[in-house]
Amino acid sequence: MENLLSVKDLSKQQILDLLALAKAMKANPAEYSQALAGKSIVTIYEKPSLRTRITFDIGIHKLGGHAVYLDAQNGAIGERETVKDFAANISRWADAIVARVESHKTLEGLVEHGSVPVVNSLCDLYHPCQALADFLTISEHYEDVSKVKLAYVGEGNNVTHSLMLTGAILGAEVTAVCPLGRSPDAQIVKQAMALAEISGGKINVTDNLDDIVDYDVIYGDTWVSMGDDTPLQQVKEKYMPYQINKALLIRTGIKHVLHCQPAHRELEITSEVMDGEQSLIFDQAENRMYAQNAVLLTLLK
Ligand code: CP
Ligand code: NVA
Repeated sequence: MENLLSVKDLSKQQILDLLALAKAMKANPAEYSQALAGKSIVTIYEKPSLRTRITFDIGIHKLGGHAVYLDAQNGAIGERETVKDFAANISRWADAIVARVESHKTLEGLVEHGSVPVVNSLCDLYHPCQALADFLTISEHYEDVSKVKLAYVGEGNNVTHSLMLTGAILGAEVTAVCPLGRSPDAQIVKQAMALAEISGGKINVTDNLDDIVDYDVIYGDTWVSMGDDTPLQQVKEKYMPYQINKALLIRTGIKHVLHCQPAHRELEITSEVMDGEQSLIFDQAENRMYAQNAVLLTLLK
């Protein structure tokens, strides 16, 4: 493992090893308090963040390392100077780059022109750190993640893609339930289906909520992702039938609820469900730090 741009570059064993390391770090933080001593990691944000920024910052601190935060006021990467020069400079000072970017191509440029590991902390296509934290959370409730049935409900997006790819590699069943015209990227779905064929997993895309009856976990995200200027109210009518609410949990018999956050309460998810006993949403946010720390330690050790 040299970078983490997408989970599709990882094997099943590598993902299981990351989850096991994350659990070990969560159980015994003191043991890892100097694991990244002397290491400096630049974290770059072209888009807003609460969870990702803070969990990387505090997470790196908890491993004895140093995080340097570069925000959007420096402009998109490649604007003030080329991606090539940007990556070459940072590689002379830092031990790794974590980047949240508009375009996946920027991450590929950082890998091509830099000489330190690059971690994707969200781009237009993927959110691998999120999906690893999500499966870490699932693994705290389901001993064998390959037997889990996960339903993602809402806009087909970066989060959907990473969940499908991770589930496919692990051998789980992942179904994306999206309104017509809002399905995940067809090419990525095809890749996930091919990976599922190898692992014994299953990947489905549907617009029908009846297809996820008896699933284990339901997963929500915003109906409009960062960078898309469509007002939420404009898509409300289309998405409202897909709201994650108590009636849907009863209708499907689903046991656990995830949402990557930020959440729009009473739109894609009701407060009753988000704050209810089936919700693992804040465990999931907590687990971002452990999943990411496992990634950083694996890349830098
Ligand atoms: N889930 C997630 O990535 O949250 P932030 O956008 O707040 O980092
Ligand atoms: N799909 C969302 C995820 C936010 C964490 C977005 O890209 O804005």
